[in-house]
Amino acid sequence: MPAIVVVGTQWGDEGKGKFTDLLAIDATHVVRYQGGHNAGHTLVVDGVTFKLQLVPSGILYPHVVPVIANGVVVDPWVLLRELDMLEAKGIDVSKLVVSGNAHLILPYHQEIDTLNEAALGDSKIGTTLRGIGPAYADKADRVGIRVQDLLRPAYLKERISAVARGLAGRVDVDVDGLVDRLLTEVAPLLAPRITDTVALLHDALAGGARILLEGAQATFLDIDHGTYPFVTSSNPTAGFASVGSGLGPRDISEVIGVAKAYSTRVGSGPYPTELFDDIGDLLVERGREFGTNTGRRRRTGWFDAVMVRQAARLNSLSEIAITKLDILDTLPTIKLCVAYELDGQHIRHLPGDSDDFARATPVYIEMPGWQCDISAARTPADLPEAARNYLACIEREVGVPIRLVGTGPGRDEILIWETPS
Ligand code: IMP
Repeated sequence: MPAIVVVGTQWGDEGKGKFTDLLAIDATHVVRYQGGHNAGHTLVVDGVTFKLQLVPSGILYPHVVPVIANGVVVDPWVLLRELDMLEAKGIDVSKLVVSGNAHLILPYHQEIDTLNEAALGDSKIGTTLRGIGPAYADKADRVGIRVQDLLRPAYLKERISAVARGLAGRVDVDVDGLVDRLLTEVAPLLAPRITDTVALLHDALAGGARILLEGAQATFLDIDHGTYPFVTSSNPTAGFASVGSGLGPRDISEVIGVAKAYSTRVGSGPYPTELFDDIGDLLVERGREFGTNTGRRRRTGWFDAVMVRQAARLNSLSEIAITKLDILDTLPTIKLCVAYELDGQHIRHLPGDSDDFARATPVYIEMPGWQCDISAARTPADLPEAARNYLACIEREVGVPIRLVGTGPGRDEILIWETPS
């Protein structure tokens, strides 16, 4: 290690949790650095399914210290419910720490999220309505409520009162009721976990720790580099792992990009390789492409190497992990987008202008499928030639080595890929 980032290279839901879970075996700390409970990781361990939203996936290992770092926005009630759920399933949650500098998502943020989406009408973002955007907006506006404010009742009330005054006429905030709930339901339970996570992580690194930084959402939902405005309100790209955790950029030694063997997107926004046919439906059904979090049906499409190539640049990817290759098992042919056509030209890069991106049409190469069950494959030699060719093509087009390939939902359904010489 010492610090590795795992980041989504598409629009989220790539199955990052599975690889984070695998890498966590060798980690001492697993850190969430951005986003909130808009994320959803499903992990299947010994047949038991865990659906995590806010808690770092490393929580399932007793040796890991799970860290919710400063860049995260925390709905405290969701966090407490998630910890209860994990404890009920026999998981030790005692090591989880939360940065005092992380911001709280409060009920008024969720109300504002709903009002903002309604105001946008047909142009709505399709947010998770979890209050993520409004909480980050308050942070940028310097009226956010931080986790450490829970420790100072008078200050907490003063800050929430100021917010309530600012929202007057749009959202009614019951200041006394909210402060009372925070102080009685939340503060006593979270107080022992509130930590200076920057000091914790740096001291741990100095002592030889191996830190895994777990990105939520993904590159093209990044507020700077994604398909704005159809993005989330944080920076999932790897550069923010440093800001969102307080580790320095040179503390990060490796960045692993996770990409689905096809693509999916939830919510609105442009999607050049989207499928509207039976194959799209098949990917939804075989891939169980419904939000972990909201239950929404995901949009599906072919793998877009132009986007993942861009993700490789934006994140300094050192390697890629491919997930859900088995979902393509039944297809007679598979397409892979290697360029876009725009105004009669073939371009291999992502257009910087959002209108151009929305107008770009995919240029595909078509490859034969393998049409057999690959779930038992653990080495490249176990794969049919067509599947090996597909992976080699992704690797060539994206320009980053593949290291791991997911062949099924279970913890052990992973193949170690070696680049064919
Ligand atoms: P928000 O993050 O709830 O504000 O939603 C903004 C956009 O990001 C919407 O299109 C959401 O569907 C999408 N989004 C947010 N979190 C995730 C995620 O974890 N996976 C996939 N899409 C997400």
